[in-house]
This record gives sequence, structure tokens and C-alpha cells, in this order.
Amino acid sequence: MTQPKPQPGILDIELYIGGKSTVHGVQDILKLSSNENPNGPPMSAQQALAAAATTLHRYPGSDHSGLRNALADVHGIDVNKIICGCGSDELISFLCQAYSGPGVEVIHTSHGFLMYKLYAMAAGATIVSVPEADRYVNVDSILAAITPCTGLIFVANPGNPTGTKISDTDIARLIERAPKDVLIVLDGAYADYIEGWDGGASFVESHSNVVMLRTLSKMYGLGGLRVGWGYGPKHVIDVLNRVRGPFNLSAPSLAAGEAAVLDRDFVINHRIQNNTARSWLADELAALGVASDPSEANFILARFSDQTHAEACDDYLQAVGILVRRVGGYGLPQALRITVPDMVGCARVVAGIKAFLEQAA
Ligand SMILES: Cc1ncc(COP(=O)(O)O)c(C=O)c1O
Repeated sequence: MTQPKPQPGILDIELYIGGKSTVHGVQDILKLSSNENPNGPPMSAQQALAAAATTLHRYPGSDHSGLRNALADVHGIDVNKIICGCGSDELISFLCQAYSGPGVEVIHTSHGFLMYKLYAMAAGATIVSVPEADRYVNVDSILAAITPCTGLIFVANPGNPTGTKISDTDIARLIERAPKDVLIVLDGAYADYIEGWDGGASFVESHSNVVMLRTLSKMYGLGGLRVGWGYGPKHVIDVLNRVRGPFNLSAPSLAAGEAAVLDRDFVINHRIQNNTARSWLADELAALGVASDPSEANFILARFSDQTHAEACDDYLQAVGILVRRVGGYGLPQALRITVPDMVGCARVVAGIKAFLEQAA
């Protein structure tokens, strides 16, 4: 039958499957499958969202000036070099659309965030996956994979689903040695969990081929609103604004996002809560024989003896209402990614995994 055909390669894109949120027949669900903030959104953002309800008949501003000014103030960066997206996912898509395409190679690391690959494929680009070293991004492997066709390099730091972070010295080496016409994207989706770190903003200041991505979906508890932002050289931001729809962010998203960014107490308190709970969870699981790498994010990657063991643990946890994430699609079938909940939730996870190990022994 004759029917419209998509562009070559589009049907090769795997459908992204989000974290599980329900289990049939189980009531008391602890959802730890999408790296969401266990405390929910800040009250300041909820109030701004409610206030925005009275002006829903108005189109949002297209320059996102309120949110961009708040980000510039809080991070001490240049407002003219910020772009906002419908989640940082949308900015990944703009980058692939504008800086890759047929014949262009896009480098990502073997356990890197899936959306790099999916959007690069949607743009018709060639994906180049380079190995990580024991679940850490390896700058030498990236440098070795660069060819005259390389257009974009994506590095999540900290990584998802690994949680590991490479040093600014390593990032500097990557930037210094990569050709200046290759755009290097430093994805700092989890940078807010690292006190005093700029997520890569200083590299943007000093190089014309570096972009930083950030999101309000994690630390700021606004995954449902879809707000992300990027910081890059003016010439890159100008390009991305040309592929951005003028009203890509809704007025309520802009209002709530701005309020959340300005709510510094929320960020400070949640960072302390997360990082304390994360250490406790990792230590308790290690004591049970379930290892994880040092995580700098709001999740840990728990490693089991093999894929069968990891999947059996996931099945057991699901049956008791604890939803974590299988990461076979990231080349880590023997691991489960567990979002760090509050301390009550952490105790429930440890008890669940302990019970699984006892019954599996
Ligand atoms: C490394 C990384 N980058 C980007 C994103 C996209 O975040 P969002 O589109 O919600 O802003 C995520 C979400 O999980 C992520 O883990």
C-alpha cells in the first residue's frame, strides 16, 4: 500500500520509555524511577503557578526575560547567553537539529543519556558511541573518536545513569584538544547537587565552542512543567533561537520556573537532604554487598552480580511498591538506578533489597 514515508533512519529510533509509576494491584508506591525530587515542587513555584492561572488567555513572552534574568542573577552569568527550552531535552534537540545532520558524527559516551542518541538520529546524523572507563566518562576515548566529520560531543557530568563526575581538569583537556569547530555540550542536569560548582559555565565564558545545559526537572522539582536552559556563546544561542518556536515555554512554566530559581533556601535544603540520604543509602547497600560508584547526583546506580539478579531484584521491589529503573538500554543490564528518596524512603529501599537478598540466597 502506498503511504507517506518518514525520512531515512526515523523508524530506527527506539521509543523512549519513561520511568514506571504504577504497579497493578499495589497501592503504596515509592516512585524512584525518574530522578524526581521526593519533596515535590517548591511552594514558591506552586504559588506562582496558581497566580498565572488568571492570565492564561495571554500568550507567554517569547524572550523568557523573567526566567533568564533570574538565572543570570542567581548564577552570576550573562543573560544574553541564556536560552530556555521545554526541558533541556528540547535544547538537545535544537543542538542536534542545528549542528548535526546527514554526514555529521555525534559523539556520546557508552552509558550516556539516551536523548543524545535519539535526537541525533532524528536529525539524520551518525551516532558514535565511545566507551566509558568503569562507568566514568573517558576523555581519551572521546578524543580518539573525533574525525573531520565530528560536529557535536555530548558529555553529561555527572552522568546519568552512572552518577559519576569527571574533574574540571579532564573537561579542560577535552576542550583544549578537540577541534575548535566541534561543539562540546556539557550537560549539567545534576550540577545543582554539587555545592559551589558552576556546572561548566566558566568553560562557556572562555571558549567559543562550549555549551552548558541545565534543567529545573531535578533539584527544582519541576519535571512536570518542562523547563530547561542552556548557556552558550552568543553565536550559538543566536542559532538555537532560530530553531526555537517563539512560545516553546508556557506562561505558567515560565512563572513557576522563575520563582523556583529564586528560591535559594529550597535548593540549599534539598541539596543537604539529598546528599545526606544518598551517602546513607549507598553505605547501607554496600554493607549488604550491593556496590555503587560515588554518585554526585540524586540517584545511585546499584550493581548486582548479573542481569538476572538485577532484574529479579527489580521484580521483587516492584511487588512491594518500590519502583526503580532498569538500565539495560544504557548498556548496564546488571544495574538498577535508584533515585534518592527521603530518609524514610531510603530505609524502605534498604529493607526491600535486604529482604530480596535473603529470599534469593
Ligand atoms: C543527563 C540528563 N540530561 C538531560 C535531561 C533532560 O531533562 P529535562 O528534559 O527534564 O530538562 C535528563 C533527564 O533525565 C538527564 O538525566
